[in-house]
Amino acid sequence: MNKDSNLSRRILDIHKSAIHEMTRLSRKFEDVAFLSWAKPTSGTPEFIKAAAIDAIKNGLVDGYSESMGIIELREEIAKKVKSYNRIDATPQQILVTVGAIEGLAAGVMTSIDPGDEVILPDPTYSTHIRQVILASGKPILVSLIEEEGFRLNIDEMRKAVTSKTKAIMYCSPANPTGAVFTEKQLRELADLALEYNLMVITDEAYEYFIYDDYKHFSIGSIDEMRDHTISCFTFTKNYAMTGWRIGYLHANEDFIPHLNKAHIPFAICAPVISQYAALAALKGSQTCIDDFRNHYLEARNLMCKRLDELPSVFSYQKPRGSYLMFPKILVKEGKDSVTFCKNLLREVKVSTTPGIAFGPSGESHLRLSFCVPLDMINKAFDRMNRYFS
Ligand SMILES: Cc1ncc(COP(=O)(O)O)c(C=O)c1O
Repeated sequence: MNKDSNLSRRILDIHKSAIHEMTRLSRKFEDVAFLSWAKPTSGTPEFIKAAAIDAIKNGLVDGYSESMGIIELREEIAKKVKSYNRIDATPQQILVTVGAIEGLAAGVMTSIDPGDEVILPDPTYSTHIRQVILASGKPILVSLIEEEGFRLNIDEMRKAVTSKTKAIMYCSPANPTGAVFTEKQLRELADLALEYNLMVITDEAYEYFIYDDYKHFSIGSIDEMRDHTISCFTFTKNYAMTGWRIGYLHANEDFIPHLNKAHIPFAICAPVISQYAALAALKGSQTCIDDFRNHYLEARNLMCKRLDELPSVFSYQKPRGSYLMFPKILVKEGKDSVTFCKNLLREVKVSTTPGIAFGPSGESHLRLSFCVPLDMINKAFDRMNRYFS
């Protein structure tokens, strides 16, 4: 009997994740230097945990909440979206989701029909590609311009538009490249979306982690884009709340009931305990965000310095945001990034992520995370220095 015959086409079209494969392999080794994590290593701030405990003690978390999220939280989120993202938000335009991921999934399910095309930058966060496939859509990948800091190639994106194109989906600051799309690029992207009546689904998970003089820009803040943007955010990165599974999206008030129709069958509501924790996060001191950013900046600078010691092995674009970077592998073994990363793990116990996991333009690259203690970066590079010398 064919085992696959009980599986849907859309599931069969999703290939095994190179990221998970590397994680599985890493477990077979001891004393691994991990540069493959994309989750904060620090814990959730104490005041957020305390608020969650209070919510339990006060009996607030035993039932479902309103599917859109508790009103107090949506009010606080609307204030943040207004002040930081410059989007003129109201609580009625906010949907609280199970991390950014569920908001993005709801955005895709709400915007496309089977067979519709979604344009994404290449390389990009592989989950976005999978979400499009899960919605029976067709991901259309358009290469970024690596030499210019992995900039969007608007001309090529324009050429990729067909009568089936329904949406554009991107993350900025970007996973895996560390790129930050500038306001100018995003205004050009908005013009393209408006010209062809496309939806733009944004993933702004790393919105606070931007370095040097770069600035975060939310395309949803452009007035004309109000009916064309679903902007997705999360508490995961800013407050080190990976496991709490809490995020939110902003969209025009008319879209929210439709997005809610996609949200309810997958989630009913976001975890209620996490909603109270998120409320405390927004109302409390924001110094943790600055602390995280300062650490990532120091770690980025260290990683770039250590990469400079290996100029015949890697070239790289200095990341402008997120806590990830995407060096190009210059040695010939790097042509197959999966084998290259597996060898690094086997030979010197350094765990990295093969670039091919993020789209075809990602081949001959590897993703390195600087969301790790400085010691971990030094340990990994000491080992790589010995290996490549
Ligand atoms: C670009 C990007 N979006 C979303 C997520 C996950 O966000 P959440 O935990 O809020 O679902 C990640 C996690 O690594 C990410 O890199």
